Amino acid sequence: MILRSCAATIGLVLVAALASGARGGDSEPQKVLLGSPDLTAGIPGEGPLTKAQIAKWLANPANHQPLAVELPTGLALGATGIQIPADNPLTRAKIELGRQLYFDPRLSADGTVSCASCHHPDEGYARNTTFGVGIGEQTGNRNSPTSYNRILSSAQFWDGRAASLEEQAKGPIANPIEMGNTHDVCVKTVQEIAGYRQQFEAVFPDVGINIDTIAKAIAAFERTLVTGASPADYYEPLLAFEKAFAQDLEDLEAFKEENPGAFARYEKFKAESAAHPISESARRGRDLFFGKANCTACHVGANFTDEKYHNLGVGMDKPDPDLGRFVVTKKEEDRGAFKTPTIRNVALTAPYMHDGSQKTLDEVVEWYDRGGHPNPHLSDKMKKLGLTPQEKKDLVEYMQALTGPFPEVRTDRLP
Ligand code: HEC
Ligand code: HEC
Repeated sequence: MILRSCAATIGLVLVAALASGARGGDSEPQKVLLGSPDLTAGIPGEGPLTKAQIAKWLANPANHQPLAVELPTGLALGATGIQIPADNPLTRAKIELGRQLYFDPRLSADGTVSCASCHHPDEGYARNTTFGVGIGEQTGNRNSPTSYNRILSSAQFWDGRAASLEEQAKGPIANPIEMGNTHDVCVKTVQEIAGYRQQFEAVFPDVGINIDTIAKAIAAFERTLVTGASPADYYEPLLAFEKAFAQDLEDLEAFKEENPGAFARYEKFKAESAAHPISESARRGRDLFFGKANCTACHVGANFTDEKYHNLGVGMDKPDPDLGRFVVTKKEEDRGAFKTPTIRNVALTAPYMHDGSQKTLDEVVEWYDRGGHPNPHLSDKMKKLGLTPQEKKDLVEYMQALTGPFPEVRTDRLP
């Protein structure tokens, strides 16, 4: 009885949704899987963008339809944490506009530096220099963090001083040692490019080009930069299954006979993991990461970060250390605390830590093994670990097994 009325309700909802879809036209969100190459492939064609190509692209209503996003396997476990501001919905046309701006050095004062200069796809959307290198080869005092998996994160920068990606994107444009521009000059430059005018008019019809819409488009593009499933992600369901069905798996023939559905799932998990193999060492590293080494005290959840600030003592041996989160909050306990970075694809983003002071993952693990660097504000989660050389190697192998594919992103085709 209950079941039937339930089914009837679902039926009604479905009919209503279909009807409104037919009527609502382009207001119905279109489902997309982030990481799909079509989102970041650029406007179809080769060579520099032409006016005709842009006009054709903008004339397609599907490119202005709001997108309802799904995350790739692994990251998808964090779907409830997706951060898309209500006033900046994703559309294909906006993502594409943001892609062009992200790779466009004309946004900088002397036309030489783009966002990609310090967050390049070939270097894990970070840069393998110790510090970010801006116009005139100037450097700051912080390492370029990654610009991927930002869709699961609200506060940006090592100290969290920007409340959103939209707010963050405005920073480097006017930072004298990064892109060295002013917002006014940047806006003017973009306005002078016909292909941008065409796109901003269509994507932000009420506002056109200003620093906020430039930032909104860039933020929309960044939200599509997500890590795909890694060998470690394919291993998780297999491991969970092996634990839950440990006894049944002792006699496979009987298991297959008695519970064919579960057995089929087991075969599927095994095949998927075998197609994305993970070493014995990485498997042990996984247990250390979640267990004895206590890494998940901070690197937790689908994106391996609690999005909080901790003092590990990095740089605290310097005479005038970077005080990190303290500068934002002025709270004593935040002295020397920095935002926990993601561990996904971390093997691609050396060097490490807010000051780029650690060159390899082995060095990072040594640091944790020593319990960080003692200082009055050291996190109480930092303890000497007493890891064996093999265990240290295992932890590094596990972090390497957390490497998944990036979306294919077109880096040229600017207007
Ligand atoms: C000169 C190098 C440089 C350029 C150019 C640059 N960045 Fe960054 N980016 C950095 C550094 C260094 C940080 C960390 C600064 C801090 O925490 O104070 C950072 C931080 C970020 C973050 C925060 C990530 C996190 O985990 O909190 C994002 C997102 C980002 N940049 C995106 C961009 C975008 C978008 C642009 C272009 C508009 C850009 N960057 C231009 C070097 C650069
Ligand atoms: C107390 C919280 C905490 C614990 C526990 C912790 N981390 Fe971290 N991790 C952080 C923070 C915060 C940073 C950035 C610190 C900085 O730059 O000052 C970081 C940085 C890193 C980095 C560098 C990432 C990058 O992009 O620069 C790696 C790799 C890393 N941790 C791995 C681990 C491993 C492996 C463990 C377990 C042995 C672990 N972490 C335990 C909070 C933690």
